[in-house]
Amino acid sequence: MSFPIHRGRRLRRTPALRALARETHLAADQLVAPLFVCPGSGVRDPIASMPGQARLSPDLAAREAAALAEVGVGSVLLFGIPAAKDAEGSGAWDPDGPVPQTIRRIKRDVPEMAIWADVCLCEYTSHGHCGLLHGREVDNDATLPLLARASRVYAEAGADVIAPSDMMDGRVGVIREALDAAGCTGTVIVSYAVKYASAFYGPFRDAAGSTPQFGDRRAYQMDGANVREAIREALADIAEGADMVMVKPGMPYLDVIRAVRDRVDVPVVAYQVSGEFAMLHAAAERGWIDLPRAMQEAAVALNRAGADILITYFARELALQIASERRAVAAMEPVR
Ligand code: PBG
Repeated sequence: MSFPIHRGRRLRRTPALRALARETHLAADQLVAPLFVCPGSGVRDPIASMPGQARLSPDLAAREAAALAEVGVGSVLLFGIPAAKDAEGSGAWDPDGPVPQTIRRIKRDVPEMAIWADVCLCEYTSHGHCGLLHGREVDNDATLPLLARASRVYAEAGADVIAPSDMMDGRVGVIREALDAAGCTGTVIVSYAVKYASAFYGPFRDAAGSTPQFGDRRAYQMDGANVREAIREALADIAEGADMVMVKPGMPYLDVIRAVRDRVDVPVVAYQVSGEFAMLHAAAERGWIDLPRAMQEAAVALNRAGADILITYFARELALQIASERRAVAAMEPVR
């Protein structure tokens, strides 16, 4: 069937027809807002390379979570910035650290929110690597019990979801076992199964002070050239007990999201990372792109590629956009 019988423009003629034919929809309850939490109270310390984002003390993080819930965002993902770092990253399993404190606070004040806790040592180690060092190498197997210990502390504080981002082999199984042994059989594990060694984490590392003091993370995070390896990683983590798997970063890896979505039956999460967020802001600040439209287009692209759930620093703005969409559509003039 071809022109003039087929006219693609018929389904694009009015906002209502475009809405009818739309294939991909964003849902606020499938958005996850990352929050950086630090010690203290009343602390709001803006992050220069991430406009609108700040390091928050537990009280203000809980207030932020309430504001996010108010606009329909379903989850928050917590990253901790400890008062002090050491070679082991012992702050990661301090039950009175900023992450467990924030978890307890949000559970109390915003019980409808799903609380995700990132598990990694890099924010807590003096050397900035994601695990224990043995010489200049990150020792995989020696790191596993430390990750399990941190996971248990967050789960016992009330985290609904444990999200290991360290990229050590075997950590999902070890964490599952530790959670079950502690009676936390209902705690979900989302593994950062497919996490690339990426230049797009730059602003996050500023925020968390987690830049490696020597070398880089290429011996544990994935090579950006690989997609078959992503399938192996996702299947391995599911076999160890991951309830959901993540692909990270997002937009440079849309093909990977699609490939993983086509091969697994668990929910797939995409992480639109700090560098993706910073780029959109930087271009918008120069007047080169329209931020509200670009942010929506990027989010739709990640969902269309196959992500069911989206972690994004734009969660609040996207949720507001979703809520006002119906009104905006109704108000728009048809364009012919
Ligand atoms: C910790 C971790 C990182 C991110 C999430 N968890 C940084 C890294 O691996 O260096 C990056 C998130 C972002 O850039 O928004 N391992």
